[in-house]
Amino acid sequence: MDNTHPLGIPINDLNTSSGSISGNNLSADNYEDMIHNMAAMMRGMLGEAIKQMPLDPSIKGQLKVPEKCLGEELAIKALKGGNFYFLQNDQPSALKENKSPKAHSFNVELIRKDFPILQQKVHGNKPLVWLDNAATTQKPNHVIDKISDYYRNYNSNVHRGAHEMAARATDAYEQARQKIQQFMSAGSSNEIVYVRGTTEAINLIARTFGQLNIGHGDEIVLSASSHHANIVPWQMLAKEKGAHLRVIPFNDIGELDLEAYKALLNPRVKIVAVDHVSNVLGTVNPIKEMVKLAHANSSIVVIDGAQSVPHFRPNVQDIDCDFYVFSGHKLFGPTGIGVVYGKTKHWDTIPPYQGGGNMIDKVTFEHTTYQPPPYKFEAGTGNIADAIGLGAAIDYIQGIGFDAAGHYEKELLNYGMQQLTMIPDLKLIGTSPTKVSVMSFVIDGISNEDMGKYLDSEGIAVRSGHHCAQPTLAYFGLTSSVRPSVAFYNTFEEVDFLIDTIKKGIKQLKK
Ligand SMILES: Cc1ncc(COP(=O)(O)O)c(C=O)c1O
Repeated sequence: MDNTHPLGIPINDLNTSSGSISGNNLSADNYEDMIHNMAAMMRGMLGEAIKQMPLDPSIKGQLKVPEKCLGEELAIKALKGGNFYFLQNDQPSALKENKSPKAHSFNVELIRKDFPILQQKVHGNKPLVWLDNAATTQKPNHVIDKISDYYRNYNSNVHRGAHEMAARATDAYEQARQKIQQFMSAGSSNEIVYVRGTTEAINLIARTFGQLNIGHGDEIVLSASSHHANIVPWQMLAKEKGAHLRVIPFNDIGELDLEAYKALLNPRVKIVAVDHVSNVLGTVNPIKEMVKLAHANSSIVVIDGAQSVPHFRPNVQDIDCDFYVFSGHKLFGPTGIGVVYGKTKHWDTIPPYQGGGNMIDKVTFEHTTYQPPPYKFEAGTGNIADAIGLGAAIDYIQGIGFDAAGHYEKELLNYGMQQLTMIPDLKLIGTSPTKVSVMSFVIDGISNEDMGKYLDSEGIAVRSGHHCAQPTLAYFGLTSSVRPSVAFYNTFEEVDFLIDTIKKGIKQLKK
């Protein structure tokens, strides 16, 4: 193999974000990283060169880009015009032009082009304003295309066939697992088990780890801000085993009471199950500290990451949690696919979740032996297409710069919260400064359902209801709220439109 790159760089000298790579063992991830790094490097070099070019003051006014953007934007244009194989047309447009978060500020208009649904009109000719991101996020073309590509070009079952299609599908399915591992900073891809979503993930842990470790009189500690998915499976287990649920309260702004949590910890507490981010309050809970306290009490910790992963990357090794779960559809990926991260020491000791094909080693009518984790926990044909789609979603968010997206989104949230505060009779639910994305509220004298319908009539999609978190709302004496929630593809104009429409709605509905 020729070990020289087309750019003239010896491949063995190239570094990727995941470390040094040798020319013979480039994984797809390494390869893509390398391409993106080189693209960013070339844009940087070309940009610098363009900035150094003498510019006649008389043509400055005729340029279509502001002078301060000269290097960057002209470099992008120049590269796009050329026949560079790393800027092919099948790449997401935001990836093409906004590759490096360090080098470029976040360009929301470019990002929006990647999400076809954001161009939809509703109720006749009203542009869709998607502010129901906590319920589910929209999917970029990159994800839609990768799923379609699988069905069109290499649909096959995985791990089984001795043919080319099976090999291609297995590679893509397992590469997606590696992408998830890297996204969560897990130690090994064998710690990542595919499930349908957060709900199934928590049921899996309750039915396996919980079955094995919870006994009569034991206690399971939950947060008062839990989603039903992180309450009901534990309640079912507790009922069956004669165990008890204990609840960590939160304060008026929606932050968990850590002193109360400490007081709840005692030798009977075997499991602590908390949400990283509340889906009603938006609060980011101090889970690292909570894990430390739980471990000092010999309790294991399950983190519900359904509402955190769309906003920031969890580092499960740093958090040191025992299990961390999330759903693909909240992370700009498909429905029907989700993830359970678990520490190897747990996967190695707990029994299978379901029995069937794929998870076995040898079967006789007398006895069955199992595959090692993660396969031991993945009975039957998995959701291959959507696992690949989730891998593509992770590629997408990494490609646009997830940190930059997070900063932009936080500014949008702060702006929205500030504007909502100024509406008379509107009460915000959950006002912790740590919060992300969600802006729950109620308005005196107006039903939440009516406000939700009014916003919808103007093209604004929000959730109104109990958000599958009835106990959270009960704390505020409520049974429902209106819940707009932002993602990185929302704009300040959309937030302004939301605020104006709420004001108009108040006038209409109070008549
Ligand atoms: C915090 C939280 N946990 C769990 C879930 C359940 O996720 P899924 O329905 O994808 O299983 C949700 C969904 O809204 C959620 O917000």
